[in-house]
Amino acid sequence: MTNHGGAGYRLGVAVVGAGYWGPNLIRNFSNSPTWDLHWVCDLDEERAHEAVGRHSTVRVTRSLETVLSDPLVDAVAIATPAATHYRIASACLSADKHLLVEKPLARSVEEGEMLVEEAERRGLTLMCDHTYCYTPPVRHVRRLIADGSIGQLQYLDSVRINLGLVQPDIDVFWDLAPHDLSILDFVLPEGCQPTSVSALGADPIGAGRTCVGYLTLPLLGGAIAHLHVNWLSPTKIRRTIIAGSQRMVVWDDLKPSQRLSMYDRGVDIPEGLAEDDRRKVEISYRIGDMVAPALPEREALQDVSAELFAAILEGRPPLTDGHSGLRILRILEAASRSVIAGGSPVSLEVPGLSVAAAS
Ligand SMILES: NC(=O)c1ccc[n+]([C@@H]2O[C@H](COP(=O)([O-])OP(=O)(O)OC[C@H]3O[C@@H](n4cnc5c(N)ncnc54)[C@H](O)[C@@H]3O)[C@@H](O)[C@H]2O)c1
Repeated sequence: MTNHGGAGYRLGVAVVGAGYWGPNLIRNFSNSPTWDLHWVCDLDEERAHEAVGRHSTVRVTRSLETVLSDPLVDAVAIATPAATHYRIASACLSADKHLLVEKPLARSVEEGEMLVEEAERRGLTLMCDHTYCYTPPVRHVRRLIADGSIGQLQYLDSVRINLGLVQPDIDVFWDLAPHDLSILDFVLPEGCQPTSVSALGADPIGAGRTCVGYLTLPLLGGAIAHLHVNWLSPTKIRRTIIAGSQRMVVWDDLKPSQRLSMYDRGVDIPEGLAEDDRRKVEISYRIGDMVAPALPEREALQDVSAELFAAILEGRPPLTDGHSGLRILRILEAASRSVIAGGSPVSLEVPGLSVAAAS
């Protein structure tokens, strides 16, 4: 740490894993006004060199021990495959380093719980990189739900598909669904938690793991969430519909000029009628305006690194803390059980699914 707490106060960080995602963390920590990137660690040292650039002063190593023995390193960001998160994160906590861990937090609830407990025992920050929670569209949706603008939540329907890399250590649920589940966790208000999960998956190419998956999560209060994740789609789609009684929102993350569209559309049934009368009454369709809110274009990882810094400094849990990572792991484990059971619902006991305070 430098300049304890005053203006210009900075912390030291290392990034472990310089494959596909690690370079994004490396770039953001390098450009951050509050972080000093000291090390990049990868078993493939050449990759780490490429990620920092040939003329960088950031040091490169294959050895995690070297990184962890450097007192200038206050925090470690882990961007290695999911199966390695627990082992690397445990070593970092044992060396009293704060942590940013990529999604999914670990490969099982049990591993995740041990990490959360150990971080709490040592008074260290454990943050999950649930990147989408730091994007302007997701923050906006969260506000719309929280302030009642969309009315009573009816359903969320998310499609996250492309011709994706078939991961060696996890199936498509564990690879892609953490994005959508962490968004759900972030935007859903109290009293709207998923009560169960049904998952159907297929492996039509014989990869040995689910490549095409569908998750259905009934929500407390009567709404429902449905997620489609798929590595075998010819086109890339990143689209979520969030429907409420007052507004329906379409988030298309591949449309930078108009990521969010808010529709004043819906189906109205007069309130206060008995069930039988509701069936007989004429439904009216509301076809109002569409508004596209102006949102800043901002790289989410800037806010991820800023949140990690602020949480450490203020000694408070980050917005996407270890517990949010655990809630996602609980749903993923239940989904894996549901796949084995041919899609039967597996109940969830997920107390307080929504994240506490909005930023
Ligand atoms: N937040 C996001 O939007 C997002 C996007 C993509 C990937 N991810 C996550 O990032 C993580 C990494 O994914 P990826 O696609 O970059 O994987 P990758 O396979 O491309 O890269 C992983 C890197 O980690 C290195 N590595 C493996 N074990 C190591 C160890 N023990 N010590 C040091 N280095 C080691 C490998 O050599 C490789 O360079 C995963 O958890 C993934 O889910 C997050």
